[in-house]
Amino acid sequence: MSKVPTLRLDRLLANMGYGSRREVQSLVDAGLVTLDGAEIEHSDRRIAVTRDLPERMRVQGKPLDPPPGLALMLHKPLGVTCSHKEAGPLVYSLLPERWRRRDPAISTIGRLDKETSGLLLMTDDGNLLHRIISPRANIPKRYRVNLDRPLRGDEAQIFAAGTLMLENEDKPLLPAQLEVIDRTSAFLILTEGRYHQVRRMFAAVGNHVTALHRDRIGRLALPEDLEPGHYHLLSEADLALVLPPG
Ligand code: URA
Repeated sequence: MSKVPTLRLDRLLANMGYGSRREVQSLVDAGLVTLDGAEIEHSDRRIAVTRDLPERMRVQGKPLDPPPGLALMLHKPLGVTCSHKEAGPLVYSLLPERWRRRDPAISTIGRLDKETSGLLLMTDDGNLLHRIISPRANIPKRYRVNLDRPLRGDEAQIFAAGTLMLENEDKPLLPAQLEVIDRTSAFLILTEGRYHQVRRMFAAVGNHVTALHRDRIGRLALPEDLEPGHYHLLSEADLALVLPPG
């Protein structure tokens, strides 16, 4: 059984963006931090950082934010960037303001282009991030693609061959699976994530992507009722659907 980490309350709350350790101390002094219904009296009290803390701890009357080790899925809308620093709207601005001050910081697990929508995972757990993006994990990601021109008919074979070279690259793409929906739309399933990969693959077969949306990572699907710009925390069961079995 893995050991539950413990942290001083002031450090835990400061790392979760509630303020400096001094500010956390003021909240504690004012009786505004409770655990299991009782006021916490000392900001140096050690707290076992368990998943259920949000149900047990309140800060200024509100349930604690998810403790470190969080993972979430966001329905990324069009027009926002998966970056901490670029100009314009960023995916991080879709999360609660306080979450942007967390340490460890929340980052995206891989990226989607500004003009791609769909399923984006985010976490503050570096270990989880690497388990998902590692090329060895080989996790399939499914994209729904709309095209400018009708499919020619040979794309599925070309993508599946594992020999397609993209411009300015020195290694062929891994085999990818194309499932045709109709003449100008298809699902494309990739197990790698090179820069603008889907758009460049269709450019390589003389077409042009007009809309791109990711709807699955592993066996985890973007729920139909999760609106663009909205997110929800991932459960252990959700994560098991993302990670390869075993
Ligand atoms: N391929 C692309 O071209 N863009 C994405 O956002 C993801 C995959």
